[in-house]
Amino acid sequence: MKKVLVTGGTGYIGSHTVVALIEKGYQVVIADNLYNSNEGVLNAIAGITGVRPAFEQVDLADEAACMALFRKHADIEAVIHFAAYKSVNESVSKPLDYYRNNLNSLMWVLRGMEAVGCKRIVFSSSCTVYGQPDVLPVKETMPYQEATCPYGNTKRIAEEILKDVVRADRDKHEGRSELKVLLLRYFNPIGAHESALIGELPNGVPNNLMPFITQTAAGIRECLSVFGSDYDTPDGTPQRDYIHVCDLADAHVCAMEYMASDDFSGWDAFNVGCGRPYGVLDVIRSFEKMSGVKLPYKICGRRAGDIEKIWGDVEKANRKLGWRAKRGLDEMTLSAWRWQQHLQEKA
Ligand code: UFG
Repeated sequence: MKKVLVTGGTGYIGSHTVVALIEKGYQVVIADNLYNSNEGVLNAIAGITGVRPAFEQVDLADEAACMALFRKHADIEAVIHFAAYKSVNESVSKPLDYYRNNLNSLMWVLRGMEAVGCKRIVFSSSCTVYGQPDVLPVKETMPYQEATCPYGNTKRIAEEILKDVVRADRDKHEGRSELKVLLLRYFNPIGAHESALIGELPNGVPNNLMPFITQTAAGIRECLSVFGSDYDTPDGTPQRDYIHVCDLADAHVCAMEYMASDDFSGWDAFNVGCGRPYGVLDVIRSFEKMSGVKLPYKICGRRAGDIEKIWGDVEKANRKLGWRAKRGLDEMTLSAWRWQQHLQEKA
């Protein structure tokens, strides 16, 4: 059985990907420091799949701990590297924590892979590397733009680190890199697994739209603030390419299969979104329709650092990875609501 190390595998996107991998017959080892998650997620994964993945609680930014992890699981065939801090706001106030955690963990994971001869890694990147693109939908060939926060900068720097490592490997192996690096540039993942056993679990007050909506509908927050209605978009609110987290998880399985083929060598990046834009009011309307709950919200001023609009050209992922998003906005908002209701029942 193909054995995969999933770092950050108890987190939001990680846990959905672990489920998708197990369902495709992969043997999964999760490495996570539980900074943004908890061990209960392992039970939930077992509840969905019937398999409890191996779990290692480890801080990957700690070189010795990371190397020990790789020595223990020297037979892994590939790594999917989710583990990272991900709050835009927090990164602005704690830049060094973000650079230390997100970049050191990547470097030690690459060192660990080198030590055990593991040649494949899928890296969680973000559409944040494009900034506000001049042309939409944005293609993978568009140049990087300056990041608006340290979090975004760690994604761009990580992409460049991976590019340099592949370049060095290519030089060592007469022009064809043995190392395979596949970057998935996520747009805006929302929603939850249909079982409602796993989903997004932000610490404290959510920064992101979907958990703020579901917590407001559940009465945990008083009112949703819609940040800006004077953008140059159809309803005046910013537009994003929302994608169901289960579709995003499936993209990782397709990436694993693509990497295993001889067609792929070196470094490549793929947009993973639905390829269509929605405004904040579209998300609210879909949520109200699917949940039957009237959402209290007010229009406020713009949020600093928000870009006006972005959505992805996903043709490359469709064509090369054989992947396509299957779930629409209504399915995303309904599944997010079911997950919130599950959390309420458990509390
Ligand atoms: N929004 C609100 N009210 C809220 C929260 C969000 O109106 O309470 C709006 C935002 O202004 C934005 C949209 O909802 O227009 C989506 O906001 P999110 O915070 O959910 O997502 P972002 O697009 O801002 O952030 C995402 C990822 C980041 C990534 C960033 C890159 O969450 O990891 O895209 O632009 F860095």
